[in-house]
Amino acid sequence: MSMNLTTNIGELDTSSVQLWNDVLAPKFIRFKHVAADGLALHSEAVLPNLPVKPGDRVLDVGCGFGDTAIKLAELVGPDGEVIGVDCCDAFLIHAENEAAARGKSNVDFVCCDAEIELPTCEFDFVFARFGTMYFANPVAGLRNMRRALKPGGEMVHIVWRERSDNPWLSMANDIVLRYLPQPEKCAQCCEPGPFSMANQETVHKMMRLAGYTNINFERVDAEVVIGNSIDDAIAFQLALGPAGEVFREAGEAAEQKRDLIEAALATAISKQKIGTFGIMMDSSSWVISATNPHS
Ligand SMILES: C[S@@+](CC[C@H](N)C(=O)[O-])C[C@H]1O[C@@H](n2cnc3c(N)ncnc32)[C@H](O)[C@@H]1O
Repeated sequence: MSMNLTTNIGELDTSSVQLWNDVLAPKFIRFKHVAADGLALHSEAVLPNLPVKPGDRVLDVGCGFGDTAIKLAELVGPDGEVIGVDCCDAFLIHAENEAAARGKSNVDFVCCDAEIELPTCEFDFVFARFGTMYFANPVAGLRNMRRALKPGGEMVHIVWRERSDNPWLSMANDIVLRYLPQPEKCAQCCEPGPFSMANQETVHKMMRLAGYTNINFERVDAEVVIGNSIDDAIAFQLALGPAGEVFREAGEAAEQKRDLIEAALATAISKQKIGTFGIMMDSSSWVISATNPHS
């Protein structure tokens, strides 16, 4: 299976692509049990109801470790096919290995920057779980996703709602900010960031500008795993997400205050619920669906 793109691999070397590959990928791999597996309830709530049928061609944008692409491959069956795209090689290698281990021959993975280029008019359905919030130019990325659809094709993307409904990220961020400053200019942040698509009105406008019709927002509240122990949860929060960015950007100042910050995080995290897979906290996402109009 192949996907034709005219962008050379070298052209993908933007600062955000470099950040995903060099800085974030090793941390996401270490915390895959939180950063991917721990968020599964947000896609499990919607996967069975997606407008995907056997034989469909489906694109999963910002597919990461490939778990939703593999689940979509089950929905389209042997006569359909799924392509997962991501700008990070390390994730795609993991995704390919996972698909091979599960004997899935109807899913393939391709390295590309969805903001620069996606194929046109090829897919019945386009999906993205927690990938579109990182588009530096969201309208361009969303427009490329629309153009990837056949006329009349549908898309669903899942994004975080506002930070106050996502204490799994905001609680640690608030604690870290008691000790360290909010970076004014962030050298190594995955901007625009997890809450960049939280505002329904703004995202509705982005979707309209990208050319979609039938734009709908559905709220999904779910508990997510933040770590398999208090130490694991602290390490996750100081590595990834908004708290991790503040900590990383502060450099030596952060290391000097590490003990204080870890103690404050331990106190807050020890008050959270324990579930089957570890420490759980509340989170909330938008499931946004839309159509590529016929003309
Ligand atoms: C938070 S992760 C989500 C991964 C996966 N969808 C999941 O739910 O586990 C965001 C993903 O989007 C990818 N990404 C960010 N910007 C991208 C872009 N412009 N083009 C393609 N992939 C992108 C990152 O490499 C990363 O794998």
